[in-house]
Formats: sequence, structure tokens, C-alpha cells
Amino acid sequence: MAVSAEADLGRRLHEWHDDLRSALEGLYPDRVEEVQAGVVARVTAASRSRKASLVELDIRRERNPDWFLEPGRIGYACYADRFGGDLRGVEARVGYLQELGVNVVHLMSVLHPRAGDNDGGFAIDDYRRPDPRLGTPSDLEHLVGSLRDAGISTCLDLVMNHTSADHEWAVLAREGSAYHRELYLTFPDRSLPDAYEATLPEVFPTMSPGNFTWVPEMQAWVWTTFREFQWDLNWANPDVLVEMVDVLLHLANLGVEIVRLDAVAFTWKRMGTNCQNQPGAHLVAQALRAALGMAAPACILLAEAIVGPDDLVPYLGHHERQRRECQLAYHNQLMVQTWSMLASRDARLATAALRRLPPAPQGTTWLTYVRCHDDIGWAVSDQDAATVGLDGAAHRRFLARFYRGDYPGSFARGVAFSTNPATGDERTCGMASSLAGLTDGQGGPGSPGVARLLLLYAIAFGFGGVPVIWMGDELGLGDDEGYHLDPTRAADSRWRHRPPMSPERMAQRHDPATVTAAVWSGFARLVQARRQCGALHGAGSVQVVDTGDPAVFGWVRRHPRYGCVLGLANVSEGTVYASPSVMGALDLAPVVDLLDPAAADLLLLEPLAVRWLSADGSYRTAPRPR
Ligand code: GLC
Repeated sequence: MAVSAEADLGRRLHEWHDDLRSALEGLYPDRVEEVQAGVVARVTAASRSRKASLVELDIRRERNPDWFLEPGRIGYACYADRFGGDLRGVEARVGYLQELGVNVVHLMSVLHPRAGDNDGGFAIDDYRRPDPRLGTPSDLEHLVGSLRDAGISTCLDLVMNHTSADHEWAVLAREGSAYHRELYLTFPDRSLPDAYEATLPEVFPTMSPGNFTWVPEMQAWVWTTFREFQWDLNWANPDVLVEMVDVLLHLANLGVEIVRLDAVAFTWKRMGTNCQNQPGAHLVAQALRAALGMAAPACILLAEAIVGPDDLVPYLGHHERQRRECQLAYHNQLMVQTWSMLASRDARLATAALRRLPPAPQGTTWLTYVRCHDDIGWAVSDQDAATVGLDGAAHRRFLARFYRGDYPGSFARGVAFSTNPATGDERTCGMASSLAGLTDGQGGPGSPGVARLLLLYAIAFGFGGVPVIWMGDELGLGDDEGYHLDPTRAADSRWRHRPPMSPERMAQRHDPATVTAAVWSGFARLVQARRQCGALHGAGSVQVVDTGDPAVFGWVRRHPRYGCVLGLANVSEGTVYASPSVMGALDLAPVVDLLDPAAADLLLLEPLAVRWLSADGSYRTAPRPR
């Protein structure tokens, strides 16, 4: 290792020492020294084996820690096999990603999953090897390198709440290894599981009821929050932390630049609670952040915590005292509220709920999205609903019914997921196009379905944060109707919205007669406008404004150097005229609509139209990524 790299490691160990230490003091008060030594040993080994190109990237990123906040930063998420067939196939489609204008790609189900049903790749047998059906370890490294050469950062999952029941650790635990048994949460009888169950919800009540699975070889109940083949790790055992730090750094050394902490909210269990969002889960994330800061600062963390509004911002480090935690977290609340506005044609609930959220701490931002590979849970809080005179439970029921197309005036064609008669909870599946009313036969290029899909994305792109396009949405791709023919998928309706990429649709993207091209060109406009709009820099702040018209959702994004942009979205199917008072948010004139620079009457909003209004000139100084 070069002398300078050794010096950098020393500096980073020092810089992150207190963060690591305070996380460990909270997690393992009796074993702090020993665990710290274990983490530092893994950090040192990983740092010393980091490739020269990544060492250089670390230094660049330390100088520019805001790299992921730049307004031109746009993500894309896909299953590797569904997008490209295999890793080489993904590589063959890098040009497509570049044409679309994205520069972050979240590849799912890449690491070696268990055979058979594996919860869409979220039951991992081996964190250090890709799924052999996708390619070899060197194919993966090559792909990550090619993506970086094309200016695209790779995001992979660290499935951290559980391993597969066929992971080597689980196999050894079943074979009687005490060390490996302790990596999991096992109970000889039902007394503790029953006590926990009293306050535990069920994540998959229909597919996998209960949170514990009897494993005869171990004569024990194993904690299995998700599916019976996903064994929860015992994060209260510091060996789990040290082992997973090693896995994390392995991913970082592959060249992964964003690690998605899958199901991070579930990592810490505490009797008498729902075992989500516990202080320990945050300390775990903070410890992982410190390890990355020490060994691989080019790599950042994305929290996958799809939780209620009150529990969201802490994953970005917003606590009583601010902490360095994840740099990115999904803006689940914006996602839910946007769908809610479209169904009710009313922006008042969204305005109240989003206004209440604390801002993302400095140096962090939201990942904004319209939908993902999971179901949509209708995370509308009772408190927010009550603020606008709604009953929370009734509104959640309304949304579930509306999006499975079973409500007067519904345009949606989604399906139910995990209906739980005990709690009345129902979640929703379906591609964004089918939830937005853009299934085949629901109209041509100018149809409301196209406008709705683009409205959803225009909010996600214009709100500030890093917007992510879910594979296929850029082409208006519809549901996979045939998923249930595969017996390992039939019981899980999330596969409806995980269709294979369609070469036919891809080929249509430049044919103006098609719906596909209408959608594609709408995305091109969003990408173009975002790149120009410095006010959308992630270091800015967002304020949701009361437009005075329930049909108009409004927000202002401000950056101290790059100006501000006022977003206006007409969530109704009627034409509306926004109140001139909303323009007060913009202090400079003349104003231009970045999405439609030729627009004359800026306050006139066609059905389902979105405008990003900016004081002319204030956006031209936007920085470009890298
Ligand atoms: C995350 C994934 C989801 C998976 C779950 C369990 O929420 O997004 O697909 O089922 O974790 O790993």
C-alpha cells in the first residue's frame, strides 16, 4: 500500500473514531473495545486491498461529498435478469441507460440467492458471489467498472436483516455450530416468541404468517420476520456486526458506490415493541456508515426503511443530536401522498403531511420514487388525516380499493397484496402504468394515463432529492400478467410489477405514433429540465405551499446559490387556473416553465399538468454531475 494511502487510512480511522465508538457504546456497552478492534481490523484489511481506481475515487469524493446531491443525478432500478438477462446483457444495455440520462443504477437480485423461492433475491446464500445464472464474480466487477466508465454509479443491496436459510452460517447452525447458531435468534420453546408476537405485526400475513419458524434440526424456533427461509440475524450479537461490516466492505471494494441497506428498520428487536425503527437499528446503520467512512468513503448508504412519516427522517441521521447515518432514504411519504392525491383529486392531505416532515439533514437527501419492486403500503398517518378532516383508516381503505380498481371513478388496474382481515390492512401491487390507468386499451399517446404517469414522475423529479425510475416506467410498460405460472412466484403478487424488459417497447420509443414514445419523450423532458435546474440540488430545501386550490399541489425548492423553483401539479382531470399569489414564492421575474419553456400562461394548468416555474436565468448555473 502506498504511503499516502496508509496516511489516508490513518486520518479516516481518526476522523470516524468517535462515530464508531458511540454507536458501539449504545449497541454493545460491555464489549466496546473488542468490537471496535474487530471492526477496525476488517476496515484496515479492506482499505489495504482497495483498487487504485477506487482509492482515487475515495479522494475525489472526500473533496466533493455532495456528488450524489447534484441536480443531474438520476437513478434507475431494475432486476438485473429482467433488464438484461444476465450481467453481460446488462452491460450491453449501458447505452440505453445513457440515452435515458440516468447515472445511478440499482441492480437487484445480483448476489447469490437461495434456489427456488428466494423472495425476489432477498434471501442470500452467498454475499460474495453473484448468482451463477447471471455471471461470474469477474463479470460483476467488469460490469461495475463499465458502468463507472459510462458515468453511472452502481447500487447493490446489502440484505442485512436476514440471510437465507441455506446460507453457510445457517447450514453450520443447523449442524450444531454454537458460533453460527448465535448469529441468529433462536428459542427452544414458544414462551419468548409468543411474548414478542403480542406486539409484532406480520409483514407477509398471507404468504408467511407469524414471525417464527420451527427448525427441527435445531429443536428451536428461529426468528423469521419475512419468509420461513429468511432467518433474521441477531444484531445484538456483535459478531453479526463484524461479519456484516466485512460483507459491506467487500461490496464497496467491488466498486459499488451506493449500498442499499435492505430492511434496516427490522434489525433491532425489543420486547414489547413492533421491533421496527428501534434505536439499535439506527446505531447499527451509524456503525456501518463509520466503517465505510474509514475504508471506502466513495461509497454511501441508502436506507430502505419504508415506514411511517414519523420514523423516516431519523434514517438520515435526524435524532435529538444529529448523527452521521445514511446519506439517502426512500421518500416513502411523498410516494404514498402522490398516489393519494391522484385518487382523491385533492392535494390537502399531501400538503398537510409533507409540511410536517422535518427537513433532510445537511449532506443527505431523499430518494424520490413513484413505485418500486415492492407493494405500496398506504402509510397515511391518522394524525395527518385528522388534520384535514379525514379518518385515517377509512382513507387507507379507500386507497387500497381505488388502486385495485374497485371504486367509482377509479382509473387504476392494480391488485391487492397481503390483505390482512385481522387489521384491515391491504397493500397494492401493479406497475405505475396500470395504477395510473395506462393499461393497454386505456387510450393513446394523449390519454390521461400518460399524463398521470408523467405527473407522478414530474413530482418525484421536481421535489428535490435523487429521483429513481423503476425499470419499464420510462416506456409505460405494463404488468406481468403471467407471473403466477411460475409456482415459486404465484403467491406473491409483487411479481406483477416485475415484468421482463420488453424489446418491442424499447424499439417503439422513437415512434411518435406510440404511447411508448409519448412516455419516453416525457421522461426525456424531465431529465433535461432537471439537469438545468440548480434549485433541485439536494442541498437545497423544500417547502410545500398551500396553493389555495385543493386540486393544485405546490412546492418550492430553494438552493441558496442556485435559486428556486416552484412546482405546481394539477391533480384533477379539470383545467384549473392557479392563484397568482403562488408566484410570490419566486422573487425574480420573468418566470419560465422548465418543463414547457414555450408556455405563455404559466398559471393555466391543463388536466394533470405539472409546471416547474423558475425565475429565468436563475437555473443556468446548475452544476453538472462529476
Ligand atoms: C425489502 C425488499 C423486499 C423484501 C424484504 C425482505 O423490503 O425490498 O423486496 O421482501 O426487504 O428482504
